[in-house]
Amino acid sequence: MSADTMRAVVQDGFGGPEVLRVERVPRPVPLPTEVLVRVHAAGINPVDWKTRGGTGMAGLLGEPPFTLGWDVSGVVEEVGFGVTTLKAGDEVYGMPWFPRVANAYAEYVTAPARQWARKPATIDHVHAAAVPLAALTAWQAVVDTAHVTAGQRVLITAAAGGVGHFAVQFARHLGAHVIATASAARHPWLKELGANESVDYTATRFEDAVKDVDVVIDLVGDAHDSTSTRSLKVLRPGGLLVAIPAGVSPELAQAAEAAGVRVTPFLVEPDGAALTAIAGLIDAGEVAVEVEETFPLEQAGAAHARGEAGRTRGKLVLTVTN
Ligand SMILES: NC(=O)c1ccc[n+]([C@@H]2O[C@H](COP(=O)([O-])OP(=O)(O)OC[C@H]3O[C@@H](n4cnc5c(N)ncnc54)[C@H](OP(=O)(O)O)[C@@H]3O)[C@@H](O)[C@H]2O)c1
Repeated sequence: MSADTMRAVVQDGFGGPEVLRVERVPRPVPLPTEVLVRVHAAGINPVDWKTRGGTGMAGLLGEPPFTLGWDVSGVVEEVGFGVTTLKAGDEVYGMPWFPRVANAYAEYVTAPARQWARKPATIDHVHAAAVPLAALTAWQAVVDTAHVTAGQRVLITAAAGGVGHFAVQFARHLGAHVIATASAARHPWLKELGANESVDYTATRFEDAVKDVDVVIDLVGDAHDSTSTRSLKVLRPGGLLVAIPAGVSPELAQAAEAAGVRVTPFLVEPDGAALTAIAGLIDAGEVAVEVEETFPLEQAGAAHARGEAGRTRGKLVLTVTN
């Protein structure tokens, strides 16, 4: 096969998991300040299947054909002119270009050097590829947006998922009292990760069991059982709801104002420096990375179907062999 081409998952139209197929496409070339990375593993996120179906970031990516994926762990193949911080052979991970197209479901990805960070040394590429988008979301919500401090009470909905399992660990690391929502089978694991209390959302409405919360990190949204709106009830006066899945509707903003609490929309951003800090926590044994299942690149559709079922513990990852 030509060294000028590579395998990538492409889709020619919006639709179900069956629209994803592998084909050979041109291999990217790094521009000045960019780094070409040989992808070992690519993480899967809900925004991938939402975009595949025509929502998510589809409005930004435009009409297919395009290649999905934003989470990469791999090895630097080549650096563009001017890059001084990375060199060929370095192991890196990142969430480059988001929310523009990053083409991560592929054998090679190019992106600006500073959107990458050194891969955590103590985990393999599969686990490293599970980190960037989910952990940056958790970090930017818990640390940069809510400024969680020791002793605060933090409620995290969908705590057993990709973002949630990092948010639990970051909030606990900061000394917060962490309350998680998850199905009962996940509670022992969430306790190991640092949750002080867990509520089984299938049996109990969390607003009946939880109160005096300083920060809600909501990963479920109003589309499911009005979760964002219900979470306003558990906040202390002046408390903050970070509404992650679908932003803040006018109705939610009005309800928050009436309740005397704050609410903010949120969208994750590339941040190599934060990924370096997160790698430090992983390598120090402070933060664990949960990968429930891996799929080869050719089975990206099956991986999406698995994720869309909404029951993933931690993350799903595509393995990419070269
Ligand atoms: N705005 C942004 O920048 C941004 C960034 C990342 C993610 N997101 C969005 O945030 C959401 C979560 O992302 P993710 O990657 O963490 O998803 P995920 O890994 O697919 O979430 C799966 C988890 O959701 C749990 N769950 C499902 N319904 C629940 C409910 N009603 N209450 C509590 N838990 C429930 C499941 O727990 P059980 O198995 O215990 O049922 C499962 O562990 C998605 O909508 C995603 O698109 C937004």
